[in-house]
Amino acid sequence: ARAATTAVRGELIYFRDDPFLVGPEAAFVHEPDGLLICSDGLIHAVGPYSETRDRLPDGVEPAHYPGCLISAGFIDTHVHYVQTEIIGAFGEQLIDWLNEFTFVAEQRFDDPEYCGKVAEVFCDALLRNGTTSALTFCATYPLSVDCLFAETERRGMRMIAGKVLMDRNAPEDLLDTPQRAYERSKGLIEKWHGRGRAMYAITPRFAPTSTPEQLAAAGTLWKEHPGTYVHSHVSENTDEIAWVKELFPERKGYLDVYDHHGLLGPRAMYAHGVHLTEDEFARCHETGTALSHCPTSNLFLGSGLFSLSSAKDPGRPVYVGLGTDIGAGTSFSMLVTMNEAYKVAALGGYPVPALRAFYLATLGGARALGLDDRIGTLAPGREADFVVLDPRATPLMEFRTQRAESIEETMFVLSIMGDDRAVRATYVAGRLAHERQRGR
Ligand code: GUN
Ligand code: ZN
Repeated sequence: ARAATTAVRGELIYFRDDPFLVGPEAAFVHEPDGLLICSDGLIHAVGPYSETRDRLPDGVEPAHYPGCLISAGFIDTHVHYVQTEIIGAFGEQLIDWLNEFTFVAEQRFDDPEYCGKVAEVFCDALLRNGTTSALTFCATYPLSVDCLFAETERRGMRMIAGKVLMDRNAPEDLLDTPQRAYERSKGLIEKWHGRGRAMYAITPRFAPTSTPEQLAAAGTLWKEHPGTYVHSHVSENTDEIAWVKELFPERKGYLDVYDHHGLLGPRAMYAHGVHLTEDEFARCHETGTALSHCPTSNLFLGSGLFSLSSAKDPGRPVYVGLGTDIGAGTSFSMLVTMNEAYKVAALGGYPVPALRAFYLATLGGARALGLDDRIGTLAPGREADFVVLDPRATPLMEFRTQRAESIEETMFVLSIMGDDRAVRATYVAGRLAHERQRGR
């Protein structure tokens, strides 16, 4: 056990509670010279260096990152690993983008070699950006799930993923029947859910590509496997919403399609929610359903502006995490995602302070996924996933941050100017998993 002990020293930043709902003092902890001791993949001790150094086992020398901020690892609450190769596909909004680029790309995932290659590139990109956990779509093929989990298991990453369910309105090769979708998902749940750090998400793509029968099968499967997730999309684009109305005229609205089939509740994560109504936000609150805010994607596809202020209304707050939504999203970086989230909210006259943005990317994401007892903050007993951020990563960032007068200002500038260059190191389960080389 001793051999598995690692320690890092630096400026610790982490959350105990939600800064959208409580004051910064209650929500946020800043330890200017902190020490984090990890053993066997978990955080063993955290505190001021002066008080915590006594707890270092003999012979363990902490890796020292002077001037760097150490945060819980970022959590990407919505991403498509199978779309890594189509980032930056030109010219279309959602439905045409799906047909022209996405469905074409996803048909390649019946090839184990290609799946393995993309899984590797995907995990490298996450870690390079300080993202230690993600909730990701795979393709329809069970193989695409096997290859991803094999890769995340090799790296010790906590990962939630699932095969896509579609039985209409997509190319034949990507379609299941309700029965086959049920059986194949069930097989994958039995194989992967709870194995090491892997968890399974039942993944109906979105209402237009599933019949009511397939959505019902997904609801049944979820009920039969408590602890698994539901992962889908909702109210991203106005043409999409009109299409859902045509396909499900008997339902009150888009969210109600999922509600009707038993697909709302804790551990259900819906991406986008750009055009949700007040009633729909209230229903998310009531059921514990979470939303993933994907600003780079919503801007890239011209989908619209997510209302973070409505979602996080303290009167009926909804769980919200941040998502990159690669490949409609344009960056794996959660810092870049915070930057775009700030701008989207600014257009609504709702400036998002750095503490709130970092919360969404860490503990907020963990809470949205019901994983805050394991990840999302720095506390004894939590899994030792964290990121070392360098506010002086570039000459311009160094010039700018030297005049920052508070930790909040440093964090804000980091979120506005930062990207993968600002990620000095990423640790997964207490082990160094990425380290930025000078000048790269
Ligand atoms: N809605 C249904 N499928 C998708 C997808 O792959 N990406 C995005 N952004 N929206 C979707
Ligand atoms: Zn998506």
